[in-house]
Amino acid sequence: MTFMFSHLSEPTLDPILSLSVAYRNDPREDKVDLGIGVYRNSEGQTPIMKAVSEAQRIVTNEQQTKAYVGLAGCEEFNQSIAKVVFGETPIYDRMSIIQTPGASGGLRMLGDLLNVAAPGTTVWLSNPSYVNHKPVMEAAGLNVKFYRYFNTETKQVDTDAMLTDISSAGAGDVVLLHGCCHNPTGADISLEDWKQITDLSVRNGFVPFVDVAYQGFGDGLEADAFGLRHMAENVEEMLLTTSCSKNFGLYRERTGAAVVIGKNAKEAANARGKLLTLARSTYTMPPDHGAALVKTILADEHLTSQWQTELSEMQQRLVSLRDGLCKELKNNHSSDQFDFIMAHKGMFTVLGFTAEQMQRLRTDFGIYGVDDGRINIAGLSETQLPYVANALMSVS
Ligand code: LMR
Repeated sequence: MTFMFSHLSEPTLDPILSLSVAYRNDPREDKVDLGIGVYRNSEGQTPIMKAVSEAQRIVTNEQQTKAYVGLAGCEEFNQSIAKVVFGETPIYDRMSIIQTPGASGGLRMLGDLLNVAAPGTTVWLSNPSYVNHKPVMEAAGLNVKFYRYFNTETKQVDTDAMLTDISSAGAGDVVLLHGCCHNPTGADISLEDWKQITDLSVRNGFVPFVDVAYQGFGDGLEADAFGLRHMAENVEEMLLTTSCSKNFGLYRERTGAAVVIGKNAKEAANARGKLLTLARSTYTMPPDHGAALVKTILADEHLTSQWQTELSEMQQRLVSLRDGLCKELKNNHSSDQFDFIMAHKGMFTVLGFTAEQMQRLRTDFGIYGVDDGRINIAGLSETQLPYVANALMSVS
């Protein structure tokens, strides 16, 4: 008898998700979870944002039905989240947007769209990039190449190398950029870099694809979008995914969106039609609850301002944790070796440690970061800074 599953190899675990499991199983009391990109407060909790709780109360009271919403999700959500990302950028008459199950769902839908429009398209990713970018693009049937991004000496963006490699992307290629708060490095490109990449796109014909998963965690909601807005305004075609996981704290609600900016309204509408067909054969409709909460917040001035205040508090806490860790290293270990942490944006920093050093952090200290050297700054708590600083010095 032939069995269907006998030849399947043992699963290889996602490097980020497997860390969460290992952390949970670690009995040590002083363990520190710097793995998955989830915000935590000083008590180590990921609380529901107050604006979200209030929206939840409103939705529970007012929602009358759980009947289907539609293939594109909630239109009010789509339009209001587009405003958060693009502000007043004049692209709305040639843009379409659909709600997706998280930004990863959006990445996959846009990857599938590319493979329908131009099978086997090459997508250029930064080296390194979010660990799920390559699997998602390959699962969509696309070809992946990498452009240099990070200078491991300075721990900053290697702008020259990046621009040189992106110059090799030609017409028909796609270049994926992180809208802000680069995952995993924390090293962001400058507005000047955005302008140069925009010029390259216009000159060489590649399509930019922006993944904006951490808007608000870098320099603030507006500042984090300056680069991508410049690009959107100046290129004829662009793809974008956005996530409400982090900036609305809606991780498990899987709330995101996929955007296509086309040469004109007709082309954007045709791309949307294809996206809806793809959605139908993949998940049919995105889950509603998270989008209903975001829509409720963004439709109400008071709730919007409360959400912005809470987001800005989270952003400031990350900056102060970065500062606290550097001070600890300086004052108690006379080390400025990790000062680059201050220049990084958002939740992540790449320490420049090898996989072996990251494993030592885990085995010797119960500090869980990703093997590529990434730590989640939001996983630190103020009281753990001396412990973590000491561990970093021991391992380096
Ligand atoms: C991360 O990079 O840790 C997050 O974006 C969570 C995920 O889906 O991997």
